[in-house]
Amino acid sequence: MQITLDINGNSHNITCQAGDSLLRVLRSEGFFSIKYGSDYGDTGASAVLIDGKLVNADVILASQTEGHTITTIESMAQGIQLDPIQDAYVRTGAIQCGYCTPAMMLATKELLTDNPNPTEEDAREALSGVLCRCTGYIKPVQAIMEAAAVIRGEDPSEIDVNVVHPLTFMPDHDGDDGGGVDVTPIGGSGNGTQTDVKPRTKLPKFIFAPQKPEMDVVGKPEVKVDALKLVKGNPAFVDDIEMRGMLHAKMLWSPHAHARIISIDDSEAQNMPGVHAVLHCFNVPRIKYASGGQSYPNPKPYDQVSFDNKVRYVGDRVAAVAAETVEIAEAAIKTIKVEYEVLPAVFTPEDAIKDGAPIIHDEDDTEHIHDAEHNISHHIEAEVGNVEKGFAEADHVFEYTYHVHQVQQTPIEPHIAISYWDADERLVIRTSTQVPFHARRMVAPLLGLPVRRIRVIKPRIGGGFGVKQEMLIEDVVGHLTIATGRPVRLELDRAEEFISSRTRHPQTVTYKTGVNSDGQLMSIKMTVLGNTGPYATHGLTVQTVTGLRGLSTYNAPNMKFDCKVVYTNIPVPGAYRGYGGPQALFALENYMDEVAHQLGLDVIEFKQLNYVKVGDPLPIAPLLGEGEADNVSDVPVILSSGLDECVAQGMEAIDWERRYDDNWRTDPDRPHIKRGLGLAICMHGTAIPGLDMGGASIKINDDGSFNVLVGATDLGTGSDTVLAQMAAEILGVPTEDILMYSSDTDMTPFDTGAYASSTTYISGMAVKKAAEGVREQIKERAALMLSLDTTEGILLKDRHAHAPDGQHVSMEAIALHSLHQDQQRQIMDTASYVSMESPPPFAAQFAEVEVDTDTGQVTVKKLVMAVDAGVIINPITASGQVEGGMVQALGYGHCEEMVYDDKGHMLNAQLGDYKIYAAHEMPDMETILVQTVEPSGPFGAKAIAEIPKDGVAPALANAVFNATGVRIRDIPLTPERVWQAIKTQS
Ligand code: FES
Repeated sequence: MQITLDINGNSHNITCQAGDSLLRVLRSEGFFSIKYGSDYGDTGASAVLIDGKLVNADVILASQTEGHTITTIESMAQGIQLDPIQDAYVRTGAIQCGYCTPAMMLATKELLTDNPNPTEEDAREALSGVLCRCTGYIKPVQAIMEAAAVIRGEDPSEIDVNVVHPLTFMPDHDGDDGGGVDVTPIGGSGNGTQTDVKPRTKLPKFIFAPQKPEMDVVGKPEVKVDALKLVKGNPAFVDDIEMRGMLHAKMLWSPHAHARIISIDDSEAQNMPGVHAVLHCFNVPRIKYASGGQSYPNPKPYDQVSFDNKVRYVGDRVAAVAAETVEIAEAAIKTIKVEYEVLPAVFTPEDAIKDGAPIIHDEDDTEHIHDAEHNISHHIEAEVGNVEKGFAEADHVFEYTYHVHQVQQTPIEPHIAISYWDADERLVIRTSTQVPFHARRMVAPLLGLPVRRIRVIKPRIGGGFGVKQEMLIEDVVGHLTIATGRPVRLELDRAEEFISSRTRHPQTVTYKTGVNSDGQLMSIKMTVLGNTGPYATHGLTVQTVTGLRGLSTYNAPNMKFDCKVVYTNIPVPGAYRGYGGPQALFALENYMDEVAHQLGLDVIEFKQLNYVKVGDPLPIAPLLGEGEADNVSDVPVILSSGLDECVAQGMEAIDWERRYDDNWRTDPDRPHIKRGLGLAICMHGTAIPGLDMGGASIKINDDGSFNVLVGATDLGTGSDTVLAQMAAEILGVPTEDILMYSSDTDMTPFDTGAYASSTTYISGMAVKKAAEGVREQIKERAALMLSLDTTEGILLKDRHAHAPDGQHVSMEAIALHSLHQDQQRQIMDTASYVSMESPPPFAAQFAEVEVDTDTGQVTVKKLVMAVDAGVIINPITASGQVEGGMVQALGYGHCEEMVYDDKGHMLNAQLGDYKIYAAHEMPDMETILVQTVEPSGPFGAKAIAEIPKDGVAPALANAVFNATGVRIRDIPLTPERVWQAIKTQS
């Protein structure tokens, strides 16, 4: 049919199908700012303004919008001049991955058109229909308030941090007295005193790093280097390209939790007009692999093939179709007849390890399963000292068991990949991945191609959070392009993203400790049953990290980890931001709170007595390394910690003393309401020592700008920005002179990828080293141009090289001289970095709750997280990481849960049913950045990306205990679970 649409003031004559959604039509017309998030309008990513009102373009037919005006963000900027809304989103750091940003900005436009003077509550309400998995909504709300002010004619406010003094004595990294006296501020307003900040909304508190020099770029709240393309809706993501002749793929997924495939009749599909390929286990070679995006060699067992003759969960792969349209592919999928032999299934590790349980991997070509008959993929054991002796000698022994559940990462952009042959007949895979280099290496043998014939391009990613640390669908599009010779596109829909991508490992965790009466921990045993679902993709490494995290936070002379990683028939767990840490920390911090209570000790004093401090070794770490080799043999030692300060800052921010005040904890007008406060101590890692490696390459351009090429993968975290800041700091130029490119296996140096909180630390050090190499070459050129005998004393600053005698030469002149004029050469350098250290960031997480004892409803009133991540490279992006991470962690502890029927079918595989927090539901949140100086990190930095995931769930459970006296050892804290616990325990 032919329709005419008014889009951004222009009339468009469009040919489309009667059933085409407005989303599809707008994207086919090149309006790429309209994003796919789901088919039911429940992400809001596809929002447009129709006659000025926000409408989800995925749930309205294009033909219904004839005669109405459609507005997208492509209309907002005038050339390079941004609209005040776009400008506010850039300056406030409201953009992380940017996938939801167009919809948020249109929601902002709708609000401010009607209400030029909104409250924060109005702003949250306006954003309530647009889900964001990255930001925690704090900075988008701030952007709305900022845009409103500017539109009203007020001056733009300076977006900065709220610099405050430390509350405790903070030792230097070497343990000497740093004294807090010779403090030099980094970032912030920088006067070393409490500033009288009157922001339009709350800004993160920022604590000085002691004894650090002032820097020009590092530590400053620079705007993101990728912000412009995202606020303008430029084509940046995987799907934002048009390819002639592209085919569309759809998958047939298993309806059974466990079954053998006896036969597949695909004749009807094969003969359907428009179908170009149908692939399944009877026509694709059987090559074994493990899909986790990890370093070579991937941990065994290799228990997967592209298409297997057995399915092991509801949602497992059965077949793939490539066709001219999505509709033809979907229709073809429905015609494929599969004969199954349905087998008994098992869903919990407790059942799966029993004698006689269904054997999930009974095939004879999967090697290195620890005990296939009992479905145990791995048995991990590590012991320091002698825990049994420790229990025998301690004054008290306590033992409690905890259960953590299965959740999904839910990036708003689902998995998507497009593959095609290039002119040199190399296979290009354009994919939303955190691990482009791993994906290339891993997909090559499955496709029967050498690595050299594959190029993986990672464009902008709409969120990852670990779910894209996997070689997940790249093999499918690759197989289909090889079979058809055509470009092939495969995008998972929202239900497929839930069921057939990756999730977080459920675990049963038992802690047993021996404790002396004074509170000293003598012996800790951690026993874990980890549920790795039907494949062990990240089974070994996630559970290993669980042990590392669970046995590193507190000192004890004796400790032991005993873990079985167990196959079951649930959808596949994999990497999820935190990577085993959130599971461990829920159990550990709940447990420590309970032991303190049993001993009659103050919980903070009990934890402070035992938690690790500067100079303490982590003796279990060498026994729980990742990868096949023992990467680290030396016992690591803590070199920096701001944990005491984190605890002090958090106590003040949450007003901790209220937890002892019965008048505050109860409400005479509402006797069924109880209030409580809870705390969790958090400690994470920074990269995988001896394993994670990053490379960087830097070259100068004619105008004195620099290209920085990195294999690191910015998922929206801001890593491109902090890497640019590091390069700029070394090269003496502003961040805008650094042109970042990441990542493309043909163009950029190798990087293991974005995971394990490694990018700032590992890739940052690679960038710093490469920039230092370039700096030396620039100094040599400056010495040549200024007729100096030596480079000594030459300083790069303000886009110039300054000689000690006062002469100077601009970066542009240096570039032109070097490239065109005399003794020509390309100023460039390449460096890589791997660390044998993994310095822990620390944090104190506080939560305030109200519990309705009649219904079990837990209302989270406030979250405070004080984080020591070393020197903060960019306080805006860092605080954004904390805010977004805390909200994901809040969902984990409070409301998110994958729910199944007794046959293994997920019952809530849409975002309307699987609840993630929306803007109008958020508690008050506060972030405090406690700086320390990590001697092993670039500019003193440690990691920040994952630690916000660790503490919210246990802090909530501990707050519920403070409120009600009821201890809950399972999450999420749904009304049913809390009400049952109150009923049972009272
Ligand atoms: Fe909102 Fe990523 S910035 S989904």
